[in-house]
Amino acid sequence: MRELSLIDCLPEIVNNGRNTVKNIINRAYYGPEVEKYRIIPNHNKMEIISKDKRINSFYQGDNLIVMEKLIEDGYRDKIDLIYIDPPFLTNVNYKGKVIVENESKGEIIEYFAYKDTWDGGMVTYLENLYIRLSLMKELLSPQGTIYVHLDFRTVHYVKVLMDEIFGEENFLNEIIWAYKSGGSSRRYYARKHDNILVYTKTKDYIFNPQLEKSYNRDFKPYNFKGVEEFQDEIGWYTMVRLKDVWNINMVGRTSKERLGYSTQKPEKLLERIILTSSNENSLVGDFFAGSGTTGIVAEKNNRKWVMVDKGSLSKTIINNRLIENKSSPYNIYILGDLNKEIGKLFIKKMDIIENKEGEMELNLELDRYELDIDKISIDKKYIDLMKNILKNNSLALLDFIGIDVNYQGNTPNLNWQFYRTKEKLTLGRNIKIKDPNLRESEMILLKIIDIFGHESKILLKL
Ligand SMILES: C[S@@+](CC[C@H](N)C(=O)[O-])C[C@H]1O[C@@H](n2cnc3c(N)ncnc32)[C@H](O)[C@@H]1O
Repeated sequence: MRELSLIDCLPEIVNNGRNTVKNIINRAYYGPEVEKYRIIPNHNKMEIISKDKRINSFYQGDNLIVMEKLIEDGYRDKIDLIYIDPPFLTNVNYKGKVIVENESKGEIIEYFAYKDTWDGGMVTYLENLYIRLSLMKELLSPQGTIYVHLDFRTVHYVKVLMDEIFGEENFLNEIIWAYKSGGSSRRYYARKHDNILVYTKTKDYIFNPQLEKSYNRDFKPYNFKGVEEFQDEIGWYTMVRLKDVWNINMVGRTSKERLGYSTQKPEKLLERIILTSSNENSLVGDFFAGSGTTGIVAEKNNRKWVMVDKGSLSKTIINNRLIENKSSPYNIYILGDLNKEIGKLFIKKMDIIENKEGEMELNLELDRYELDIDKISIDKKYIDLMKNILKNNSLALLDFIGIDVNYQGNTPNLNWQFYRTKEKLTLGRNIKIKDPNLRESEMILLKIIDIFGHESKILLKL
């Protein structure tokens, strides 16, 4: 039990935090080595990469270290909009649901997503957040806005920290996101909203007011002079500027958006935020990216994005979600040895031919995927299932194969991707690629990611 009250602890949290941030900002990045590869979901966008240096980026790593790297890489004052949805101090360790094909049916394996348990409780939580929020302020552009998504557990304390970091005068709104979801209590009112704190960096911020429907009383027309009214299947309404209470459905069990990441937020929520507080081509950041909703919505609305998450499940979901969305090219950066090469793909046959149409063709036949299950942290109840899959159907453990057909020895350009989707649970055994670059190619690089996020690569010399 803490001896001091939280109010008593706040000055120390702030003072220590300030010193840590000062040190981080003034020192050269000394985090772990960074591995980089580039995904090009849409080949014909290759051109854009060479012209535009600021390419969309996902970093797998602790956001504290990543932000230090971003500051060093010149991102200070560059991000117009930051949305974060950090852990809420729920004291739960979250798992994601991965569906794997076994004996022609989908089996669910629950796999670690992220920890929301804190030794030291609220104090440690606030210490962690204070430093990170301060670094986000450094990254935010002068016209920038930050949205901090929280709930009843911590919002009041984080508000105090935000006032301290961003200045009370830069507090814009507290948005209430109200939703329907199952569950109620006999002992308290059912909790059906989250709180989103909005702060700007200066008074000169981007704000594009968005409109929503407001239904007339009794759904009948008012016929007021000069007021435009509309009608839909519910009744008559006018369009009004958004208020600070937003009713948006959660990503429910039957929702098409759902990806098996339990704290996934709806695209509709991010759409409002992004359209209001950024412009086309603005850089949008999310340092607790989860399933990548922010980047996807940024992408759909012609914004650039940078996302960070330390979880390997987050990385696999984000990567496949972006490819499926035909996103523009992006870099993936892996900080340190997060995914350890504990899996190995074996190839049975490979040939490169010129087919009858004169096209260059690469044909790969995959053999098996070996994975050291003693080294992965899954619940004991899945071990037998895993052994079974490894024995009968080990290729079902592959989540993604990216291929650079003309690897030049630096950052791989993975312009061919084979990946799992909700509808297609396995990559299959055979890969066929038609690519004119195969004619000159001397090396082919395969980047392999399994369903748990472990990465490995194969270099084929021709
Ligand atoms: C509530 S979830 C975000 C959900 C996300 N908004 C979405 O729509 O899917 C919080 C995320 O923060 C990540 N996270 C927690 N601490 C982190 C840290 N220090 N660095 C990077 N990511 C972190 C977790 O892995 C988790 O994916």
